[in-house]
Amino acid sequence: MTLQDTPTTDGAVGAVVVLAAGQGTRMRSRMPKVLHPIGGRSLLGHVLAAAAPLLAAQTVVVVGSGREAVAEHLSAVAPEALPVVQEEQLGSGHAAAVALDALTEVAGAVLILNGDAPLLREETLTALVRAHQQAGDVLTVLTAEVADPTGLGRIVRDAGGAVRAIVEERDADDAQRAIREVNAGVYIGDAAAVREALTRVGAANDQGEQYLTDVLGLLVADGAPVGGHRAADPDDTLGCNDQRELAARRRTMNDRVLDDLMRAGVVVVDPQTTWVDVTVEVAAEVVLHPGTQLLGATTVGAGAVVGPDSTLVDTEVGEGASVVRSHVQLAEIGPAATVGPFSYLRPGTRLGRAAKVGAYVETKNVQLGEGSKVPHLSYVGDATIGDHSNIGAATVFVNYDGVDKHRTTVGDHVRIGSDTMLVAPVTVGDGAYTAAGSVITTDVPPGAMGVARARQRNVAGWVARRRPGTPGAEAAAAADDAAAAAATDTRTTESADRPPAATDDDQQGRS
Ligand code: UD1
Ligand code: CA
Repeated sequence: MTLQDTPTTDGAVGAVVVLAAGQGTRMRSRMPKVLHPIGGRSLLGHVLAAAAPLLAAQTVVVVGSGREAVAEHLSAVAPEALPVVQEEQLGSGHAAAVALDALTEVAGAVLILNGDAPLLREETLTALVRAHQQAGDVLTVLTAEVADPTGLGRIVRDAGGAVRAIVEERDADDAQRAIREVNAGVYIGDAAAVREALTRVGAANDQGEQYLTDVLGLLVADGAPVGGHRAADPDDTLGCNDQRELAARRRTMNDRVLDDLMRAGVVVVDPQTTWVDVTVEVAAEVVLHPGTQLLGATTVGAGAVVGPDSTLVDTEVGEGASVVRSHVQLAEIGPAATVGPFSYLRPGTRLGRAAKVGAYVETKNVQLGEGSKVPHLSYVGDATIGDHSNIGAATVFVNYDGVDKHRTTVGDHVRIGSDTMLVAPVTVGDGAYTAAGSVITTDVPPGAMGVARARQRNVAGWVARRRPGTPGAEAAAAADDAAAAAATDTRTTESADRPPAATDDDQQGRS
């Protein structure tokens, strides 16, 4: 479901309040709890994303612990949301009161959510809103039947099934502890009624905190209509209080993402080792091999193959492309292009249609044209390479002079010889070649061969003189004898069509 879909609960929710001021002590982390990342968003980001389709006129996020970091994160992921500071963490009820004070007049109901429930989904919230509207309640709480209610607030119902109270586990008696229907920490209600009831909430409980959950009991005592709506999928309501729960929520979220992808025709060879963020788009008939991670704003086009053991971050993969055992970040991989195994594509890498980056290649800030290849063991940084060019093995684009970075331009149909150093800034024109082992420091015009290396000199008989008695000297002597014998033979069988020996200028690195 996308954010553009119009909910059937249009206009019902006037304000959204997210409680995110708690310390999250049990995470044992300096990072504020709601900022922990899971499946491509922060915990808080997931809660806001679930509530966004309700199109509330106002969204307020209560911040406290790590408020600067949380507020900064908010301005990046939900700039329309207003951070409101709860100076002291006196409890969820106090946090809600601080938030309600910050709201202007609320047209419709207020939805209050814990900031640590990342599995909440839009459909679960709209079902709650609808149940609230249909019952005409003053307050409706989202509940869930769970196998293990440990640590959660219990929903106390009367004999007729009406919700009477929420009791925190540490304040519950044995009978209440046996209840398996729990508070999800999501509430929808009339803003004025909730605000008024919050003024009456005390702190006479085991933690000495002002509990938002007490509002429900107070409204029941007033004779106001309150209700509880059971979530269709209890997973949606699960919070996240420590690292073990964070890992469990991450796994559940990933399972959901992969289920959706497989239903849409994506082949997921090993769901246990394949991780896909909720923000990723994968087309039908893509194959994801074991050990694949697709993260951030990554998109994968139809028929592409990714993995095994590949990580793609914020990367666009074209139709029919393949990426094998590689790490790729902020790159564009053109249709039918191939990457890997064992390559590292860094930000700004753009591969054209059917381009190839082979094994042990690092690229950065480079445009590689259609059908062009960097097959082996190279570093290609800050370069524009045209179409149908070949970069020989072990080529280095020498882009850094120790102070500044410089660009290299390589034209179309170029052949860069193996082990060439292209010392930027430098240009190799269309159709040009460079000789293997060259250090190219000046431009090579179109169609020219750039040679920049010392000529070879063979010192005849050196091994016999300087390394006598070694296996090498013996092998050389044997080769001399064999050559002498062959020379005697050729005097009788003349061979006229022997090809000419390769010249220096032909020694190209090819693949
Ligand atoms: C809360 C509920 C519990 C419910 C559970 C669901 C209360 C008293 N209990 O328990 O019934 O089953 O969630 O996960 O609400 N917060 C503030 N300011 C504070 C205290 C808390 O903003 O002063 C925020 C936290 O950041 C968090 C939310 O309120 O997002 C809930 O607080 P938390 O401490 O996680 O409550 P739980 O013990 O999980
Ligand atoms: Ca919690």
